[in-house]
Amino acid sequence: MAVVLLKGVRKRFSGEEVLRGVDLSVSPGEILAVIGLSGAGKSTLLRLIAGLETPEAGEIHLYGKPATRGSQILLPPWERKIGFIFQNLALWEHLTVYEHLEFVNREPARIKELLSFFELWELRKKRPPELSGGQRQRLAIARALAQEPALLLLDEPFSNLDMVRKKKFRQELLRIRERRELTLIYVTHDPLDVKLLADRVAVIHEGVILQEGPLETLLAAPAHPIVRELLSF
Ligand SMILES: Nc1ncnc2c1ncn2[C@@H]1O[C@H](COP(=O)(O)OP(=O)(O)OP(=O)(O)O)[C@@H](O)[C@H]1O
Ligand SMILES: [Mg+2]
Repeated sequence: MAVVLLKGVRKRFSGEEVLRGVDLSVSPGEILAVIGLSGAGKSTLLRLIAGLETPEAGEIHLYGKPATRGSQILLPPWERKIGFIFQNLALWEHLTVYEHLEFVNREPARIKELLSFFELWELRKKRPPELSGGQRQRLAIARALAQEPALLLLDEPFSNLDMVRKKKFRQELLRIRERRELTLIYVTHDPLDVKLLADRVAVIHEGVILQEGPLETLLAAPAHPIVRELLSF
């Protein structure tokens, strides 16, 4: 059974069709990378899966249950067991680092574990405006993991991380996936993130998934020049 299943999903913003019939299936425990040009609709796709946007047509199923049918939301966002790292992070400016995790997880030991891992324990009393870009990003990641989600959606989670922390975060994602059933969909612009982390990559272009499959398959037989362009180093 697919964790995420999209059938013919369409989304328009002020008359313009951003997604023009997206079909996608993601299996339990799978890591799917989504890549595409700026404005291709990657963030919109994640927001639709999370239930934060409503499509015009199509179906979204989560864990085998209908979540969205046409423009009807059948499963509200808070019942979707989804952790989301937003492109703009969406931190709570008035809460401290510790409170960010406490808000979604009541287990002090787990909070401490996550804050220590992401090197935020010393900063636990600080608020987002007092943090650096990378520290803010690590907080968004730690908060999403503190939700103990079944499905994690990451919108360009690596963009503000230095190389050392990027490597560490990749390892953490692989480790948590091994430990328990966690399915990951992440948006990236970096083919290296695809190569090192993803089981499969979906190339989104002009509102459709142009091609999807393992990286090697797409590089060996790209369906369109843009596929090679986006995925080659
Ligand atoms: N709330 C909105 N209202 C109007 N237009 C929107 C809205 N959200 C996105 N769009 C438009 O939809 C298109 C796709 O946007 P989206 O954010 O999904 O792109 P993206 O692939 O994530 O791009 P990037 O790589 O730059 O983050 C863009 O043309 C954008 O301007
Ligand atoms: Mg985006």
